[in-house]
Amino acid sequence: MPQPLLTLDFLDTAAPAAEATPSGEVRITAATRTGRQRKLYIESYGCQMNFSDSEIVSSILFDEGFDTTDDLANADLVLLNTCSIREKAEQTVRMRLKQINSHKKRKPGMLVGVLGCMAERLKSKFLEEEKIVDLVVGPDAYRDLPGLISQVDGGQKGVNVLLSREETYADITPVRLNSNGITAFISIMRGCDNMCSFCVVPFTRGRERSRDAHSIVQEAQALVAAGYKEVTLLGQNVDSYKWASADGLEHVNFAQLLERVALISPALRVRFSTSHPKDITDEVLHTMARHDNICKYIHLPAQSGNSRVLALMNRTYDRPWYEERVQAIRRILGDDCAISTDMISGFCSETEEEHQDTLSLIDFAQYDMGYNFFYSERPGTLAARKLEDDIPLEVKKRRLQEVIDRQQVHARARYARMVGKVHQVLVEGPSKRSAEHLSGRNSQNQVVIFPKQNFQKGDYVNVLATSTTGAALLGEAV
Ligand code: SAH
Ligand code: SF4
Ligand code: F3S
Repeated sequence: MPQPLLTLDFLDTAAPAAEATPSGEVRITAATRTGRQRKLYIESYGCQMNFSDSEIVSSILFDEGFDTTDDLANADLVLLNTCSIREKAEQTVRMRLKQINSHKKRKPGMLVGVLGCMAERLKSKFLEEEKIVDLVVGPDAYRDLPGLISQVDGGQKGVNVLLSREETYADITPVRLNSNGITAFISIMRGCDNMCSFCVVPFTRGRERSRDAHSIVQEAQALVAAGYKEVTLLGQNVDSYKWASADGLEHVNFAQLLERVALISPALRVRFSTSHPKDITDEVLHTMARHDNICKYIHLPAQSGNSRVLALMNRTYDRPWYEERVQAIRRILGDDCAISTDMISGFCSETEEEHQDTLSLIDFAQYDMGYNFFYSERPGTLAARKLEDDIPLEVKKRRLQEVIDRQQVHARARYARMVGKVHQVLVEGPSKRSAEHLSGRNSQNQVVIFPKQNFQKGDYVNVLATSTTGAALLGEAV
């Protein structure tokens, strides 16, 4: 197994796990140099599930004689692991393919493949639209990559976009390439069975399936043995995790899985994402309360603060239900538990009053963080087929800006209320801005920066927060 050689992580950013990262974020898989013949270059777009899948792909291709490289010009095989969540995500990939084309002209043997959600959405149409693409492989077909690559080596194109009801890659040990050696992601499920009307994910990722609980615990144990201090359990809707053993004697729900992982070691922090408001149970909240090492942070995307819009979105909860879930979090986990959201501005037929309801929900929940977007119609979704995308772009953008501004006020206030308190911080590495400072996170997922003294990456340090920038806490070790 190759060791991580290079850290390309985004230490001072705080993106929740299984959701679209702030636009433009892309991860380049770091280099391994183990003397393998061919060089693989992977760029990953979209959510943490994609970043996690790229580790699985690297593992499969490592066994096929590929080292990874972070130098595109040097690559024999270039893979883009793509996202379809909004139109802009797809445009980014198309622009990138044009740039890669100019590299390919200089290195004619270079193979180019598209993986992930855009591959699944466009299928073999991709080969017609983007002539430089040799391989199109959907999220459930990565085991077929070696076969497809030999097909391409033999002069043909390679396409496999079959979705599976079973595939969870449970037996594949991901190659941790972009890792800081401290925090890692573990996929616990794939796909999504919800049909939110705006969302392309059910079409690109297929049916929901949960991974064998034992393989998840074993992966977490192996990470602990390798010195990792934090795992994030990933799924589009982790609260509907449900696994049963083949003999039907063992049933594990999400709360139980969370507890099993938390019990591996008190020195292992456990995070998870994403929670669906309709499915998050009090049992999960009580499990979080019982274990200090389960981080007090919940990503609970609301999408809208208005019940009519939520119904059109097919989110299957209304505003009172969402508010009650926020109150349950406050009741069981206290005011310090961090909550974040995703909001969509300008969904089909959203009125000004309904947009105001989103602003008032932000005030109600006092989110620590928000990932907010304007609505982007996706071909094939329920909304694209049944609803009119009738809010003008400038109105969508103005509403989005109001959502962002309102969220900023609460994010700052949530940081400010943490000043004067002592936080247990897991150090992830040097601060981006100063080599004399370390950066880590508290349980709430807030960034904490403090003078490094003799502390190092991987240490738990108690830090008294003395001030805040509004996006990070500054403090000193006590
Ligand atoms: N499974 C997660 C969301 C995954 S997608 C959940 O249910 O909460 C990440 C976020 O992208 C969504 O929460 C939503 O806010 C946003 N998103 C999804 N489709 C979108 C679209 N068509 N236009 C704009 N934003 C979208
Ligand atoms: Fe998309 Fe809804 Fe599934 Fe989230 S729960 S991935 S928004 S369909
Ligand atoms: Fe993730 Fe984008 Fe696919 S958010 S699941 S990579 S559409």
